[in-house]
Formats: sequence, structure tokens, C-alpha cells
Amino acid sequence: MKTKLLFTILATAISIATYANQPDSVYLRFYAPQPDGLRIAWSTDRQHWNDIGNHYLFLRSDYGPWGSGKKMWHPSVFLDGKGRWHCVFAVDNTGNVLGHTASENLTLWSPQDYLPKSEMRQYVDKIAVKQRNGDNTYKVAWQSVESLSNYYKLETYKKLLYNENTTQDAVRFSGLKPVDAKLKIDFAYTKKISDDLIGVFFEDINYAADGGLYAELIQNRDFEYTAADRKEWNATTAWKLKGDVHIATENPLHPNNPHYATLGNGATLTNNGFDGIAVVAGDRYDLSLFARRQNISGKIIVRLLDKEGNTIADPAAFNISSKSWKKYNAILTASTTVKDARLEIAMTDSKKTFAVNLDMVSLFPEKTFKNRKNGVRADLAQAIADLKPRFVRFPGGCLTHGNGIDNMYRWKNSVGALEARKPDFNLWGYHQTKGLGFYEFFQFCEDIGASPLPVLAAGVPCQNTGVVNPKNGLCGQQGGIPLDSMDAYIQEVLDLIEYANGDASTRWGKVRAEAGHPQPFHLKYIGIGNEDLISEAFKERFALIFNAVKQKHPEITVIGTVGPFYEGSDYQYGWDFAAQQGVPVVDEHYYVSPGWMLHNQDFYDRYDRNKPKVYLGEYAAHLPGRPSNLETALAEALHLCNVERNGDVVTMTSYAPLLAKEQHTQWRPDLIYFDNTETKTTVDYEVQKLFGNNGGDSYIASDLQLSNKDENVGIRIARSVVKDSKTGDLIIKLVNLLPVEVNIRLENTFSKTEFPATILTGNAADKNTKPTSAIFNINNGKLPPYSFTVVRITK
Ligand code: AHR
Repeated sequence: MKTKLLFTILATAISIATYANQPDSVYLRFYAPQPDGLRIAWSTDRQHWNDIGNHYLFLRSDYGPWGSGKKMWHPSVFLDGKGRWHCVFAVDNTGNVLGHTASENLTLWSPQDYLPKSEMRQYVDKIAVKQRNGDNTYKVAWQSVESLSNYYKLETYKKLLYNENTTQDAVRFSGLKPVDAKLKIDFAYTKKISDDLIGVFFEDINYAADGGLYAELIQNRDFEYTAADRKEWNATTAWKLKGDVHIATENPLHPNNPHYATLGNGATLTNNGFDGIAVVAGDRYDLSLFARRQNISGKIIVRLLDKEGNTIADPAAFNISSKSWKKYNAILTASTTVKDARLEIAMTDSKKTFAVNLDMVSLFPEKTFKNRKNGVRADLAQAIADLKPRFVRFPGGCLTHGNGIDNMYRWKNSVGALEARKPDFNLWGYHQTKGLGFYEFFQFCEDIGASPLPVLAAGVPCQNTGVVNPKNGLCGQQGGIPLDSMDAYIQEVLDLIEYANGDASTRWGKVRAEAGHPQPFHLKYIGIGNEDLISEAFKERFALIFNAVKQKHPEITVIGTVGPFYEGSDYQYGWDFAAQQGVPVVDEHYYVSPGWMLHNQDFYDRYDRNKPKVYLGEYAAHLPGRPSNLETALAEALHLCNVERNGDVVTMTSYAPLLAKEQHTQWRPDLIYFDNTETKTTVDYEVQKLFGNNGGDSYIASDLQLSNKDENVGIRIARSVVKDSKTGDLIIKLVNLLPVEVNIRLENTFSKTEFPATILTGNAADKNTKPTSAIFNINNGKLPPYSFTVVRITK
């Protein structure tokens, strides 16, 4: 209760910050002792200065790489003739690139634009500057200081609320008795909601693709790893070389795949896969490689070996007689189950001068999901399918817009023959082969009955790009595709729609048909941009793409983007821009604390129903230390109950990120962890699965009365009632985030009193709890402490 008292004091302080003898006006001074952002102080005499908000940073730079890479040097603040504040700053200590932003109130700043120094000068010269005092101070009304200081206090207060978590529950709820609740469903108030609410967000982060969902077992099969992927990597990473082996580039298999290995007689090349190759006794594995002889023909032998060097499949022998690249295939059937096999290629010919070139060495399980060639790992795919996602967003995330324009994900590089796909570095610190490309994503969506939701860059790279675009000297969003190249980029976006939906007589429909899918993939959605800075560079390019898609493909729903947070400049300006452009749906992202979810339950109740719809494309509850546990899962369940109530405005959601390979994780928490043989689902996964399997298409209002009227208690009990028209079932979801039981009675009459239920419960910190089946008595329902209950009122 101590924190509550503190909140009350703070809230009171905010509302009564007015004094009898306050000045009419004061001076403001802006300062930045370090290049981390802008601070503000006030003074009545320009001698004694009072800092506003304990050195609070009212503005930070958004230029360049995450975190400490974003610097604000020498900020200069001035007021224009219309009373708007402007801040111009250098993004590094050379001063060659300057940033600009503006604000009405010094708290909400416009998205930043960056220009080379000379262009910024011209730009700023056009702003009519109101003269400031010689000492760079401004005279302002006292109310300005008061509102800045109230803003700071409110931010501090919100931080306290959002930091609420269950470790404080023993104190917060000491002596709390079980709560009685009465729920009355009001069938008179029903509204249509989206039945596409639960989807998944796939990004190649945490080894989600290569070494993960993509079932290829050989790492660096194309010898294309480079120091750009990771500084200690090169073309032979993951390979063990013995004897005469080197990497060459003359006359490669394909220009997109320039490196290959050259082996002299007696040499061996061994691949350890991704932390070992896991094989199952009796399972068949497709071995393939491209080879050509250098001078004379000869034989190579490929063996699957266990840790001790025993052969665990009948070896494959290939006679390499062609002087041109040729594909060789064989099936290896494992005789033993091991987690750490390796693949050895040995040059064992009797002729001394025998040498070969090798590329695209692949070992692929035949048992992929739905037994697709070049398919996805069956257990991981099944875990995703079990969520019953209505859509799959791919290929990211930040991976979509990339670290600089050259790293943008270009879908055409990810389709066609594997050896012709263009690998690239992955901005999460590793390599992308693009073996799991757009064709495979579309196929996977079809296989699990989900709509594909490809997201393409809006012509600008990731706002956290550290790479400078040599054409304009800018990084971040401003290093976007030059405007004179945008037509070609827009055509690429249009071609994707044709690739997915065009019939086999169209240019790109034909490419799809030739890849093995003559029927269309039924693309309905396309995302443009990923949490971009809403800069001028972004807006210009987004509008060009959006208008072209709208004109040529009005049947496609374009999903825009409104920044990486639930507030702030990209969110505000992003929403304004999307509404003004008439974008049908926008993609919101926020990773927040459980406390945020508790204290923002009306977040979407406040949304204007006439503005764009919402795709909550990335979200998760984050606790300190980033665990995935019952507390985070229940907070997400509570949030999803509030989202379901607003399922008329929020039409889609996807938890993020989806997959993470243990020992290769760049981001936590994730929905599903895995290693080479096991899939380890989280508690948060169970919540997604319960929502995915218990969705509805109409929402029904209800009234909940609690015996305990404490607001702290009330906000921890959430419910949602939906009806699924396909089954006719009424589905009641109940969240109890209290450390005590809630006894709940349903005040409606049904033909029965007992119904099947699923309950997820345990200690708040539990990481492994699984849902159990139960019978729920509507006259005497029990919601255990820290629980999520789904009741199906069946006929
Ligand atoms: O989900 C991980 C990352 O979070 C995504 O790549 C990005 O869009 C967001 O910042």
C-alpha cells in the first residue's frame, strides 16, 4: 500500500502545482552537457537556473544505430514566428549532418529529419525565427514551466504505475480475502468483431529461419558467410578443412552465389551443421551438392558420421566427370538417432591430380512439415499451426527494412532456384541464405490455413541503420531509396501481388507456377514499412507505394505503420499521416510491462471508429530480466480480453518475436524456444493458443460486479465474452491476476450449469505451467489465483 500512498501524493502534487506569488514570465534555457539529449532550465533573473525535472531529457536524437549510437551534439533551439519551437542539432561531432525537429509544447516533438549541413541551413533559413535573447534564453509565460514540470511529474508517476508487478503483491494485497464476482452477459449488446484477431509474426531473429524453421541441416552450405554477417566469420565458417581446400570465385555457380570450395585429392571438408546435425534412425535425408571437376574425372564420397567418427548412413559416392556445374543427389538413411552428427566430403580418388569445385552442399530431412521439398521443420511448424493463426506476417520486423538500403529485404532475391537466391547479412548478427523465401512462406501459410501477410520496406531502411548511404551521406530513414529509383521499387511491390495472385499466364504468376504452385496464394494483405520514423523521407516514399497499390490493386488491404511505441512522435504523427492518406489499417508495436497493460485497459476503447483499423503487429509483456512466465502470459491475456472488446477496431494481433533458438537468442522473451530436436513452448504461447483456438466473430457486452471495490483489485480481473458463429458456442475468457481466488457466478440461465473449461494457473513466476481441462459450474465458478480460464458454453 506504500506505493499507492506515493501515487496519491504525486497525483496531488501534479494537480496543485500553482502558487500564490508565481511570476508572470520567466526565462528558459536549453542545454546539453553531454551529447545524449536536450535538457531545460528556467530562471527569473538569468543568473540562478532551476533544472526542470531533475535533468530530464525532453528530446533525444533518433539518428543512427540504437542506443548510444544516437547522439545529439550542440542542439540549438529557437522559436518561430508562430510560436513553434525548433531544435537543430548535429548528429555527430563532425557536424556534417544536422537533425531538425519542431514542437508546440517542448514535449511532443515532430519526427526528425536529417540533412547535410548546407541543405539544413537553407531549410532553417526559411523558418521565420523570432529573435531570442543574446544569451540564448527565451522569455516565456510561467505556465510553460508549469506544464513542462507537470509533464515530467506525470511521466514519473506513469513509470511507477507501469512498474507494478506481482513481486509486490505480498505487500500490495496482504490480508486480501477471496473475491466474489457476479457476471451478467447482456445479449442485447452484441457487435461484430474481427475473426482474424490472432496471427503470428515471423522474423528471422534468434536463428528463426536458417538453423531454425528452415529444415536445412548444413550450415553455410553455399560458402557465402562473410565478415559482414559477423566479424569472425568467413566462407569456411561451420566447415572443417583438411588437406588441400581453398575458396574460389572464378566462374561461380551463380553470380548471386560467388564463392565455392575447391578440394584437391585427399582433402576432406566436414560440416557440423547448426550446433551439430540431428538425425533420427530410419529417417531419410536428401543429400545434394553442385560439383564440377577441375581437370580429370574422379570420385568423392559423402558420409554421415557420429561424434566418434562412425558412419551412420550408407555413404554416397559421386563420380564427378562434368567440367560444368552439375547437381548430384543421393538419399542418406540414418542408422542411429544422434543430435550431433557431421557430414564429411572426402576426396579419395586414386588419381593424384583429381580436384573438384563444390557448392550448395545440402542435407535436408524428407520429413518436413507436410513433406514439402525445401520445406520447414515439422515440429516447429506444427507448434505454430497449433496456435490456429489466421495470418502469418513475414519476413520481419527490422529485417524487412534492413540496415541500410542495400540490406533491405527484396522479395525477388528470395524466390527461384536456391543457388540463384541472393544471401545477405542478417542485421541481428548472422546470415540469411533466403532458402526460406517468399515461395516457402506463402506455401507454409497455405499449409496451416493462414493468410499471408508479407511486409515490404517503405523505401526506407531501419531507423536504426548505422550504414551511411553514399549517395546522400545519410543513414537511418533518410538514407532511403533515391526518389529516381522509386518507380522500379514500386514495380517490385506490384510484382509481388502478381507473384502471389496472378494466374500462370502473367509474368510473375508464371514464376510461381513454375516453382510448383499454379494456383494463386490468395494474398489479401500487404504491409508497407515497419515501425519507421515518420520522417519526410518515409512519408514521400510510403505515399508513392500506397497510391500505386491502391490504384492497381484495390482488392489488397495495405497496412501502414505508426512507429515502435504506443505514444510519442512516430505514433502521433504516424496516425495523423495514415488517417490523412486513408490507409485502411496501421501496424502498432509496443513491448510494455504488465503494469502498462493493467493501467491501459481502455487504450482501444478510446480509438476513433472512423479512423484506420489497427493491426497490433508486435507486442509482448516485458518484465525486468525479460522472462516468459505466467505473469507475462496473464498480462497478455488481460490485454487480449481488452483487445477482443475492441475487435471492431483492432482487427489483427501478433505476439513478437515468434521463435528463438537456444544459445542463439538476440531478443527475449519469445513465444517458442527450440534447439535442434526439441520445441519448447512458453506460458505466453499457451495464452496465444487459447485465444487462437477460442476466437469468435461477435463480442457480447457483460457486467462484472465484485465484492471488493478496491481499484487495485478490480483492474486485475478481466473478462471477454464472444460468440463463434461457426460452432454456435459462447466463449467466456476470465483472467485473474490476483494472488487470491475469485468465486464467480454467472447470472444468466443456460440449459446446463456445467461446461467444459481450460485453466492455466500456477505461481506468477512459473515458466512451465500448462493448461488443464476442467468443468466449470456457472453457479459456483472458481478462478484460481493467477489464472486464465476459458469456458465454452456449448449447446
Ligand atoms: O521483434 C523484434 C523487433 O522489435 C522487430 O524486428 C522490430 O520491428 C521491433 O523493434
